Amino acid sequence: MPLVTTKEMFEKSMKEHFAIGAFNVNNMEIIQGIVDAAAKENSPVILQASAGAIKYARVPYLKAMIEAALEEHDVPIALHLDHGPDFETCKMCIDNGFTSVMIDGSKYDFEENVALTKKVVDYAHAHGVVVEAELGKLAGIEDDVNVAEADAMYTDPDQAKEFVERTGCDSLAIAIGTSHGAYKFKGEAKLRFDILAKVKELIPNTPIVLHGASTVIPEYVDMCNSYGGNIPGAKGVPDEMLHEASLSGVSKINVDTDLRLAMTGAIRKVFSEDPSVFDPRKYLTPAREEIEKTVAHKIRDVFGSSNKA
Ligand code: G3H
Ligand code: 13P
Ligand code: ZN
Repeated sequence: MPLVTTKEMFEKSMKEHFAIGAFNVNNMEIIQGIVDAAAKENSPVILQASAGAIKYARVPYLKAMIEAALEEHDVPIALHLDHGPDFETCKMCIDNGFTSVMIDGSKYDFEENVALTKKVVDYAHAHGVVVEAELGKLAGIEDDVNVAEADAMYTDPDQAKEFVERTGCDSLAIAIGTSHGAYKFKGEAKLRFDILAKVKELIPNTPIVLHGASTVIPEYVDMCNSYGGNIPGAKGVPDEMLHEASLSGVSKINVDTDLRLAMTGAIRKVFSEDPSVFDPRKYLTPAREEIEKTVAHKIRDVFGSSNKA
């Protein structure tokens, strides 16, 4: 089937209380690992490319590899721009067949975020493309902030309602305590489910997106560390919290770090166990297998999107 937008996916996810995994793609092995897992689980899936991924892999290659995935598999696949930094990048992706774009105006103040998001929404909707926007700030633990400053970063539910009404965005990424990368929490993991509940109460028909939602899977952190890596103190969002989020109105859960760890752990293991290896297929094959295992686990055991294709 051709690429789909996230519109139908999200309608189903909100009605049936599950979340759709949005996985970051950068190369062929990552794409194959993700779509093979989605096909085996009969699940919809979102492939997302950041500006960095586009710079690395280049649009024609990404498009062609995703075309190949569509040829091989019959599950709904959306192609999404992750963290679009400006109107021009969003326009370029819309003009190149992406079915969904994110405009990330969270670095701007509220009014500027509204204006930029609205501009992208107008162009995207005229071309049949849907738009994810972001309100609130995702902070990492390295940020030296006090409680009042931390509170100011969470999404304000009343502002979220106003933001969606004024911009017409199709889905909204909110800040409830997650952050990007491998170091999300210093102590216990904690998410503000009360903010999520209030947002869902005020804008029940807007699909909600969780960024920075990798589990930072301990097995892969250990694998990286025990085969020569140095990733001490890495910590992510536990599966149980992500499962709760997927039952509580989160429709899209973003995962990049876990794929990086799975891939790197697998490659480090091959190199450590057999330093004579120099055929890329010898280490990229296990890397692709670990990506597939990771994605299948999330789809099946955490997000609940198996058999929702
Ligand atoms: O949220 C950001 C994603 O993990 C993408 O990261 O910009 O390094 O491709 P990137
Ligand atoms: P992680 O770093 O937790 O995987 O988050 C990825 C993400 O939010 C991509 O937009
Ligand atoms: Zn993100």
